[in-house]
Amino acid sequence: MLSEKEKIDLITRISLDINEAKDIDLLMERILTNVKKFFTADAGSIYLKQGDQLQFSHTQNDTLRKRLAPGKKLIYNTFSIPINNNSIAGYVARNSETVIIPDVYNLPDTVPYTFDSQFDSLSRYKTGSMLTVPMTNQHGDVLGVMQIINAQDDNFDVIPFSPADEPLIKHFATSAALAVERAQMTRNLILRMISMAELRDPKETGAHVNRVAAYAVEIYEEWGRTKGLPQENVDKERDVLRMAAMLHDVGKVAISDLILKKPARLTREEFQVMKSHTFLGARLFGEMQSDFDEVSAQVALNHHEKWDGSGYPGHMDAATEKPLPGHEGPDGQPLPKKGEEIPLFGRIVAVADVYDALCSRRSYKEPWDEDRILKEIHQSSGSHFDPDVVEAFFSCLEVLKSIAKRYPNEE
Ligand code: C2E
Ligand code: SIN
Ligand code: SIN
Ligand code: FE
Ligand code: FE
Repeated sequence: MLSEKEKIDLITRISLDINEAKDIDLLMERILTNVKKFFTADAGSIYLKQGDQLQFSHTQNDTLRKRLAPGKKLIYNTFSIPINNNSIAGYVARNSETVIIPDVYNLPDTVPYTFDSQFDSLSRYKTGSMLTVPMTNQHGDVLGVMQIINAQDDNFDVIPFSPADEPLIKHFATSAALAVERAQMTRNLILRMISMAELRDPKETGAHVNRVAAYAVEIYEEWGRTKGLPQENVDKERDVLRMAAMLHDVGKVAISDLILKKPARLTREEFQVMKSHTFLGARLFGEMQSDFDEVSAQVALNHHEKWDGSGYPGHMDAATEKPLPGHEGPDGQPLPKKGEEIPLFGRIVAVADVYDALCSRRSYKEPWDEDRILKEIHQSSGSHFDPDVVEAFFSCLEVLKSIAKRYPNEE
């Protein structure tokens, strides 16, 4: 059990997390970790309301995690349950009422809900005690449900949750609800920015943007595995990278239609203008108020840099378009950026973007066949691309192909 001091530290920690974390997935994970710790619970889940359903969105289970090989993830089928009185979570959402159950396999006859033991039998887990609270915003709207399972005593024996736990977990659930609301607003804003870019540039479709983002995350996870990067670090960055990768070409909104939609090869002058989409995109995130802004600016600025230094725009200050101090070439232009001077996420999105561009039809080119694409990427290792990133790309190629099937072009 935690001491009073540890409890107060944890409350502070959770509040700080809620104020700091910009990414909703990361935030929900942190809240679950801390809430589990606080109530010495073995497992916890968050369901978010979507229409008249509860979507099972995040879960942690210490017992099941210990059974997995290190580095492997708990895989849950994302399922949803209707908001009605038949299930525990549904009841809590429907009635905005906290439910404390000492043993889910011995429910009193008076309650309308039943416990669905399907998950237990699939995972060979034994749910015992359960505390389920609604996640409400300041208007009292239910945005989701937080559920913690199997409170434990100091000998790890399962004990009931105490009614005294209710006010505090309600407080956490409400804070989480507010953060969900805020994060959804941010995410919607980003999606609107992307659809604006899409209006401008019909080939930067939602499908392209989703594919490049999903490829980038997959390549990053593979890269992290081979580099022995702790899973926590990867988890922490993954969602920020996904959003940033979706926005890699957002600077194209500033490029004139004549160039953007030209159904032929660009002239030298036109390509010169086109190159500005990198730093113009980065400038949109200029205030750098969060990790998300910083990574997005980095990806927009660096996704056309090349490992051998022949990419663009080089060591440039996106705000002023001037060379960074100490990086001015004899011609007054920014010196080229090469190798690990190019931020990792720029190197990763470069491969993801080119792979997708070559697989796709453009106004100026037909899609390439697979052999030619893979040969091109292989040959560009060490010249256009970071060799380690190319290696990660080939290691997860099968997954990338399945991602491509998930986001087909809407032609
Ligand atoms: P994009 O079409 O999304 O292409 C992204 C990157 O994929 C390109 O960056 C390039 O590295 C690679 N790529 C695309 N198509 C080909 C290809 O046919 N062969 C090879 N070897 N690589 C290819 P890049 O070259 O810096 O171009 C940036 C953006 O500029 C392109 O994004 C596209 O929007 C525009 N662009 C480039 N060339 C042309 C062109 O000839 N005509 C038109 N209309 N747009 C172009
Ligand atoms: C419920 O809360 O009834 C659904 C979750 C579960 O079965 O564990
Ligand atoms: C895309 O890259 O998703 C669209 C380009 C195309 O295939 O027309
Ligand atoms: Fe680009
Ligand atoms: Fe692109």
